[in-house]
Amino acid sequence: MTALDRLRRPYDTLRSVVRFRRFQSDGTARRLARAASVHDLRRLARRRLPGGVFDYIDGAAEDELAKAANNEAFRRIVMRPRVLRDVSHVDPSTSLLGKPLPIPLALGPTGFTRIADPQGELAVARAAGRAGLPYTLSTLATRSIEEVGAQDCERKWFQVYVWRDRGLVTEMIERARVAGFEALMVTVDTAVFGKRDRDVRRGFELPPKIGLETLIDGALHQGWTLDFLRNDPILFANVAGRAAVDGSDAVTLSDYINAQFDPSLSWADLDWIRTVWDGPVMIKGVQTVADAVLAADAGIDAISLSNHGGRQLDSAPAIVDLVAPVAQAVGDRVEIICDGGIRRGSDVVKAVALGATACTIGRAYLYGLGAGGERGVDHVLGLLDADIRRTMALVGARSVAELTPDLLGEPA
Ligand SMILES: Cc1cc2nc3c(=O)[nH]c(=O)nc-3n(C[C@H](O)[C@H](O)[C@H](O)COP(=O)(O)O)c2cc1C
Repeated sequence: MTALDRLRRPYDTLRSVVRFRRFQSDGTARRLARAASVHDLRRLARRRLPGGVFDYIDGAAEDELAKAANNEAFRRIVMRPRVLRDVSHVDPSTSLLGKPLPIPLALGPTGFTRIADPQGELAVARAAGRAGLPYTLSTLATRSIEEVGAQDCERKWFQVYVWRDRGLVTEMIERARVAGFEALMVTVDTAVFGKRDRDVRRGFELPPKIGLETLIDGALHQGWTLDFLRNDPILFANVAGRAAVDGSDAVTLSDYINAQFDPSLSWADLDWIRTVWDGPVMIKGVQTVADAVLAADAGIDAISLSNHGGRQLDSAPAIVDLVAPVAQAVGDRVEIICDGGIRRGSDVVKAVALGATACTIGRAYLYGLGAGGERGVDHVLGLLDADIRRTMALVGARSVAELTPDLLGEPA
């Protein structure tokens, strides 16, 4: 080896191993490209959003036991992968409410979505539409039924909170029908509002009030603050124009809900909803086998096993633990949606193997929205889609029909 070769060798070796990523000048694209999971997007959202906004999304009731339990229950479930099954073609498609779904997933309702990004519900609906997934618009949305109805999203569901003013409920349901919504999802776990300690500590009000704390927080999160100031005020868009209820006066969400929603809600009200809506009806917030059986008996089309992401009753059961006993009790009489704690596609695979038809997500897409707007929601849905396909291949399931409980449990 010549002296020149000796000098060049370190350079050649270094050149063979060093690879610089092409610089991405678009900051959002750069951040999203490095977000490998929903957990990464949560961290990005935490950085981008003011503390009170992040806590409104991330927080849960009281000691946040139910929220933690939802996540922990998924982590506890071990898979028993089968091998040598030729998984060159994996088909994760299924059907829900009689229509095909590309993967067993839908986007659940979240109120006040514009707080994470000015496009709010419109961005989430469009991202759901691109992924071919249903999107559920909340009663407490900050974009109206008509605005969301006009977005390119084929399957839209409307989430109903039953207000004391039944006339208002009837009117919203009729507007959803005219705007092309396919199904109603009636939330039944919010007779009164759960106490969310993080919101209480921050004095969080909707719309966000501009106190000294908010001003300082806003200055530290300029991207969010500029978006907030440049756009129309955030209101409860479905009741816009009704001064008493549209959110134009700052209130705490708990005062608002306790004043407007009807705590006398009962099974009889579901019969009443059937008289004003002739499409599919789901109920969201079932947390026991006994209520799941009552829902099946009442002819409900799908039940969402849900504790509201741990935002209502703090000592509620972990949702995925309910799936198998409920599936056993109701059989094929009613479709089962598993809602709460989904952070990875493997969580969806586990829920389906236990007997769920599909899962819904809340915070996962809000973290994406907070981290990177509409592209952030696309990113989350892309991650979950890829996770589901990869996990199915790794457990040896070529279709959702092959996702059975024997793929889960203790090693055997
Ligand atoms: C910020 C936020 C707002 C929500 N707003 C509503 C709502 O308006 N109506 C409703 O039925 N559920 C609402 N939920 C509950 C979600 O639909 C869903 O049940 C919950 O987020 C599922 O848990 P996950 O966040 O772990 O996926 C909300 C959840 C969050 C995080």
